[in-house]
Amino acid sequence: MSQRTCLSVILAAGEGTRMKSAVPKVLHTIAGLPMVAHVVKAAEAAGSGELALVIGHGADEMRKAALKFAPKAEAFVQEKRLGTAHAVLAARAAISKGYDDILVMFGDTPLIDPEALATARLKLAEGAAVVVVGFRTENPSGYGRLIEKAGKLVAIREEKDCSDEEKKITFCNGGLMAVAGRHALKLLDQVGSKNAKGEYYLTDIVEIAAAQGFDVVASEASFENALGINNRAELAQAEGIWQARRRREAMLSGVTLIAPETVFFSHDTEIGADTIVESNVWFGPGVKIATGAKIHAFSHIEGATIASNCDVGPFARLRPGADLRNKAKVGNFCEVKQAIVEEGAKVNHLTYIGDARIGAGANIGAGTITCNYDGYSKFFTDIGEGAFVGSNSSLVAPVSIGKGGYIASGSVITESVPDDALAFGRARQRTLPGKGKELRERFSQAAAAHKKG
Ligand code: UD1
Ligand code: MG
Repeated sequence: MSQRTCLSVILAAGEGTRMKSAVPKVLHTIAGLPMVAHVVKAAEAAGSGELALVIGHGADEMRKAALKFAPKAEAFVQEKRLGTAHAVLAARAAISKGYDDILVMFGDTPLIDPEALATARLKLAEGAAVVVVGFRTENPSGYGRLIEKAGKLVAIREEKDCSDEEKKITFCNGGLMAVAGRHALKLLDQVGSKNAKGEYYLTDIVEIAAAQGFDVVASEASFENALGINNRAELAQAEGIWQARRRREAMLSGVTLIAPETVFFSHDTEIGADTIVESNVWFGPGVKIATGAKIHAFSHIEGATIASNCDVGPFARLRPGADLRNKAKVGNFCEVKQAIVEEGAKVNHLTYIGDARIGAGANIGAGTITCNYDGYSKFFTDIGEGAFVGSNSSLVAPVSIGKGGYIASGSVITESVPDDALAFGRARQRTLPGKGKELRERFSQAAAAHKKG
């Protein structure tokens, strides 16, 4: 099949208003990726190299967004929303280039499985002219029904055009169709608009092709493949299904999730075997975790690279550019941004590390802050191998601490510290014997006098 050429036509011109949003529906995200980009990924995974994206009039935002997730896709504008067949024909110029397989998908149906696409393509390769991916449901309301005669698919009837008998059919059109490229335009051009909605229905090509003796087949897939998103409740439902799939995949690949339903992955999370993820962990985009790491509860991680056997959290926040090398530790209530924490270094408690390098084996005490920002620019802090930063120190960047440098706790460090030096950046302590007691007496007398007066 790999030699067969394939064009995917993704329909995304129909803009419902039920999302109640300024953002086009298909750009709402699942696992951090626009839903239409999930469809693009599935098409690519099924070996469909060429993409045609059908967008609505004035959909500049869509066009811009598509550059990111589908740079190779050609965008076609459907000026008026006259139905799904009409939308496919907006991409006529692409279809007429001549492909073996044409896949038609909806941009608002993000959980489509590449397997279902591959199966549909296989049926085309076996000689079918049209393949419809259907699913069975107890509640078919709203979907087109697959009408079969003597075990053969002969038509798809949209709900509004169904007879009472036909409405009882529970085998439905999932919205994904595969059409043999050499027949596609001929079939599409025969579609009319005599139906309850007065639209040009893509689904009508089934009846047209079957009547002309072409081989038309239904291919059954699970309901998720057809889950169309029309509002935010359905968006959350799709997110839930996506996350459940991804968690299972992670666990089967050797990751321990102690409470899987509380861990949220991004579309691009990479996580190695023997990593243990405790409960309530959020992965934003761009996270790569090697093997054997421990991610403790309530950590929020995005744009971070975590090497083998690192220890993160509980309650850690790793932001973009956090780069933890082998066996590094970032503990509770610590935030790390754009910083390398080298092998075995420890940032264990209540600390902010931003725009910095922490050398191997260094120990960063509780409450340390790299002061990286003066309100205008960001500055870098370099901490050498084996350095020790005492608790509650402020390191005012740009500043560096040499290898084995030692910072007394409570210091405000504004000048660089050479290798193996000890730096105090705080007022010296004075201890006055007996003064505490004297002070207490003075204050209590003053308070008593105040009450009387
Ligand atoms: C469609 C199918 C129905 C199927 C259901 C599955 C048709 C006629 N009906 O119905 O059999 O059970 O999906 O979810 O195909 N679009 C355009 N331009 C248009 C019209 C639609 O781009 O002029 C796009 C929409 O953005 C959407 C997709 O096509 O992504 C489907 O359109 P929609 O109106 O949702 O069709 P359904 O009534 O759901
Ligand atoms: Mg729909």
